Amino acid sequence: MHRILIDTDPGVDDALAILLAMKSPEIRVEALTTVSGNVYVDQATDNLLRILGLLDLSEFPIVAKGEAQPLVKPLVKAEHVHGEDGLGNISKLYMSDGNPRYPLAKCDISQLSGVDLILEMVDRYPDELVLVALGPLTNISKAIQKDREHMQKLKSIVLMGGVFSEYGNVTTTAEFNVFVDPHAAHDVFNSGVPVHIAPLDVTHQVALTGERLNTEVQGRTDIISRFLKESTQACMEFYSEHVGFYGLHIHDALPIGMLTHPHFFQSVEAYVQVETEGNLTSGMTVADLRRERRIDNPNASVCVEVDSDAFLNYFLNRILHKQI
Ligand code: RIB
Ligand code: CA
Repeated sequence: MHRILIDTDPGVDDALAILLAMKSPEIRVEALTTVSGNVYVDQATDNLLRILGLLDLSEFPIVAKGEAQPLVKPLVKAEHVHGEDGLGNISKLYMSDGNPRYPLAKCDISQLSGVDLILEMVDRYPDELVLVALGPLTNISKAIQKDREHMQKLKSIVLMGGVFSEYGNVTTTAEFNVFVDPHAAHDVFNSGVPVHIAPLDVTHQVALTGERLNTEVQGRTDIISRFLKESTQACMEFYSEHVGFYGLHIHDALPIGMLTHPHFFQSVEAYVQVETEGNLTSGMTVADLRRERRIDNPNASVCVEVDSDAFLNYFLNRILHKQI
């Protein structure tokens, strides 16, 4: 069983990842921390409570609000992809009785900062806690800066971020999470903690099309089915215009799958660096992933292949059919 803390900037694909994790018996989500990224951290925290409100939970993971600004760079958000509220504007949906369609979970927000909750959870589960990072790495970097030694007790960091052998999704060379806070990504890759990366090179191999989703939720009236339909629509429309298909890449779900179904994935050891200053290349992740290039100083394992059909089937089955 994997004991995890999820650091997140929900975000439509973050929501899918969180639901997948919460519905996976191989995983216990001990805590979640939010960070500015797709949307500002206050909105991200509201969104997290809305996502947890979808689940019939008898007990909640600990939730803490994290950092609002990247370490150095000005904040760049992605409402144009995820909708104004970051969840396809589902926060604006109301039922006929006037109540919100997707209410916030009645879950307290910790008094601790996101950074301090990360350090607290490492202390509580030394050598066991896995940190799953689904947004810019600001919280994790600040926890490393605050107590580098303590963070060595993390079992590992599994993150969605970076791109190596194809174009970026923010600039030609940079993926969003690393682009927003390249200095934080540099700190994480050089932290000494085992790092596993799901870059765009692999997340782009998994596409949830509108057609497939419609097939899966056809005739279903449960709240998860409704949420999947309604929260992903704005994102799918963005993809239809700017990516070339009506659907979305479920980027953030892959790190969860790397924990529950590692046999779906193939990774290579690499020495990963981050460009923090380039005018044209800020946020670029640089590594030689050629298998024939043996290296003696790897700082990360980079996922390069996924059995996309098997992963998508597992994802949909888990998120839609297995109730917790
Ligand atoms: O580049 C994709 C990543 O950026 C995902 O985590 C998405 O949610 C955004 O945060
Ligand atoms: Ca994210």
